[in-house]
Amino acid sequence: MKKTPIDCKFVDEAINEMHISDLSKATIREVKAIAAKAEELSGVEYIKMEMGVPGLPPSTVGVKAEIEALQNGIASLYPDINGLPELKEEASKFVKAFINVDINPEGCVPVTGSMQGTYASFMVCGQCDEKKDTILFIDPGFPVQKQQLTVMGQKYETFDVYDYRGDKLRGKLESYLSRGNISAIIYSNPNNPSWVCLKEAELKVIGALATQYNVIVLEDLAYFAMDFRIDLSTPNKAPYQPSVAHYTDNYILLISGSKAFSYAGQRIGVSCISNTLYNKEYPGFIKRYGGGTFGSVFIHRILYALSSGTSHSAQYAMAAMLKAANEGKYNFLNEVKVYGERARKLKEIFLQHGFYLVYDNDLGEPIADGFYFTIGYPGMTGGELMKELMYYGVSAISLITTGSQQEGLRACTSFIKDHQYNQLEERMQLFEKNNPIKK
Ligand SMILES: Cc1ncc(COP(=O)(O)O)c(C=O)c1O
Repeated sequence: MKKTPIDCKFVDEAINEMHISDLSKATIREVKAIAAKAEELSGVEYIKMEMGVPGLPPSTVGVKAEIEALQNGIASLYPDINGLPELKEEASKFVKAFINVDINPEGCVPVTGSMQGTYASFMVCGQCDEKKDTILFIDPGFPVQKQQLTVMGQKYETFDVYDYRGDKLRGKLESYLSRGNISAIIYSNPNNPSWVCLKEAELKVIGALATQYNVIVLEDLAYFAMDFRIDLSTPNKAPYQPSVAHYTDNYILLISGSKAFSYAGQRIGVSCISNTLYNKEYPGFIKRYGGGTFGSVFIHRILYALSSGTSHSAQYAMAAMLKAANEGKYNFLNEVKVYGERARKLKEIFLQHGFYLVYDNDLGEPIADGFYFTIGYPGMTGGELMKELMYYGVSAISLITTGSQQEGLRACTSFIKDHQYNQLEERMQLFEKNNPIKK
């Protein structure tokens, strides 16, 4: 029996307790529970890389504004269903300052996190035209979004972008869009879990096809401007966050307070609907609601029914954070770039001990260091690697659960503490020794 930092019996007991037959399909919450249990049984600290939760203090700009708003009594009032006017205004300025696109404040709609933004978007997109009943995922992706569709009984299709970067993307997308059943395309950029960042040429193809096939693009910018290879932190000055918004009018940009502003707990984001899409009428709305435009159905039908708006005080926080960023008074990226530094150090340790990066480049350029990265180990499936690493006190999720076809794991940098690099180095040295790579 190999000696491992965590006695195998504790890990096996923790897995058995969860009644999981195939570890590669374990959800983030299940992996978290297994790691917590094995940690408790063994008394040995885990290096936790399964959860994508911000590990930093919340933006003080947001907290201050929210406290002030509460002290001014706004908690007793229902928020405007269209969203707080100041927030709508600042969101419009923000997309101009950091993406260089023009979206009227009217189309910038506060939501209770991007989760609600995608839920509402999926619903409206699915109601536009009854022939278009399917959402297309450019995967890998955030598993909960598929769960949202399962909850609402909507169909989806997916493909792993791994083999379809660059010139290959067009043909692959057209093979779906030409069938006529796709209402919307969704992807995150930077990507959760792979940290792939689609290039302008790829966004251009997505935009052109969205226009040609009358399909809506849901661009999930949960990790806004966090491609740390380029400095996107100066408002109203290039370079800007790359976006499909430069290449089509059929889009919604999903901006989240959670990661860029470390504001996940307050559940706040802004869904920015293009001016053209906001005012567009669709046949499906006549049958269901007697009429309406995309924007009015999004707000006055769907959001009204879901939550009647977004927490009032959190909207004040988001407005203040965006305003300070727009005016160049608050460099939000400075506060989160530590994730990139962590990724660089962690990747170096894994790579030195026989691991490889699964998604390792953007059209030939090494992938950025950021919130997530993906690792594999020669000769091991994602499920096997995940279990083996558990014995070494390292927890991460299998890529299979994200719609990836690749064998490997997603590692998140957000919970890493400074003392854990040495710990990881020691444990991976042993891992490599115990798992010699067959040449
Ligand atoms: C790609 C992606 N989209 C959306 C979200 C959720 O964002 P929010 O907290 O704003 O709902 C996450 C959170 O992990 C994410 O990774």
